[in-house]
Amino acid sequence: MQKERGFTLWFTGLSGAGKTTIADIVEHELRERGRRVEVLDGDIVRTNLSKGLGFDREDRNVNVLRIGFVANLLARNGVAVVVSAISPYKEARDQVRRRIIDFVEVFVDAPLEVCAERDVKGLYAKAFAGEIPQFTGVSDPYEPPAAPDLIIKTDEEEPHESARKVIEKLEFFGYLQPSAEETGYQWGPH
Ligand code: ADX
Repeated sequence: MQKERGFTLWFTGLSGAGKTTIADIVEHELRERGRRVEVLDGDIVRTNLSKGLGFDREDRNVNVLRIGFVANLLARNGVAVVVSAISPYKEARDQVRRRIIDFVEVFVDAPLEVCAERDVKGLYAKAFAGEIPQFTGVSDPYEPPAAPDLIIKTDEEEPHESARKVIEKLEFFGYLQPSAEETGYQWGPH
């Protein structure tokens, strides 16, 4: 049997930009295609692997490097790894990129006002009220990637459209076989 090529698909972007939403759809599609998938989501990782870490520059970078470390272990065993973490600092993202061969960086780009308007978790309201210090985009920096493999503008397109672009990119890089004649699969809610 042909060995499946693992990879790390890394979503970076502001809180509320849509990383997890798109990652969920992509995860579903990868499973549909018979891939073994692991998802490493910043919010979840911070309850175990990175428990106790805060949000200053150093802790965020440690968090990102830990996620990258685990992603690499999985990906080199053929797993399709999907990461969603704000990962605001270029230095840590680039460090991970250098350590992981099969790395696909996706910038989930939505204007701060849109993320704050969505405020899915109610965190922006608190951040603007000064109740959460060092909140990314409000009182803490976010450094956009200079040369991501893909930019997704979630204020301009629907999540399924974004997910389709991600899958196409994975096919383009040879991590996925193009599905039967692009395809019978209907991109719709699942
Ligand atoms: S990262 O900066 O270290 O990559 P990560 O993606 O793991 O961040 O975690 C971000 C999540 O933590 C956010 O989605 C939000 O739910 C929560 N959070 C709590 N405090 C902050 C903060 N100060 N800045 C950003 N996110 C925060």
